[in-house]
Amino acid sequence: MLKKKIEDICNRQVEREGYSSNLYLAMASWAETNGFSGVAGWMYTQSDEERLHMLKFIKYINERGGKAVMPALKMPPAEYHSVEEVFKEVLAHEEFVTESINEIVALTLEEKDFNTHNFLQWFVMEQVEEEGSVRMVLDKLRLVGKNNMYEFDRDIMGLRRPSANAAVTP
Ligand SMILES: [Fe+2]
Ligand SMILES: [Fe+2]
Repeated sequence: MLKKKIEDICNRQVEREGYSSNLYLAMASWAETNGFSGVAGWMYTQSDEERLHMLKFIKYINERGGKAVMPALKMPPAEYHSVEEVFKEVLAHEEFVTESINEIVALTLEEKDFNTHNFLQWFVMEQVEEEGSVRMVLDKLRLVGKNNMYEFDRDIMGLRRPSANAAVTP
């Protein structure tokens, strides 16, 4: 049985993963309507992964005798000035999520909830990969970006981790 404190902070993460999914959908929509179909594809795929992260938390909370609650999500920004700005926002958001996961890990140690601690290890590693993959996109953007957004947009899907979808099956 989950302690209430742990259930609550896991439900907070349901909201954050759900918001991540919507944020990346908003970015996909901006990219798609500004001619960046490759970037839009990257964001749609990323949004699907975040939904699976949310599902992992929902299923874990319910499996452990708690109750996952679906939150209202705040509206993500709809307008951006550039692809670079979009990916800088993605990195800042992923750093925020990493911090959020780490807070839950710290609470599980405090509360001696080793089951949830173990459940979270997948997310700890996932955040290392998420941040790494966004930093790689930003590096690539610095190399070819601005001068050649056509090539960047055409190639961006090739920068995705090939195993990412297999790894997030809840
Ligand atoms: Fe996530
Ligand atoms: Fe993420």
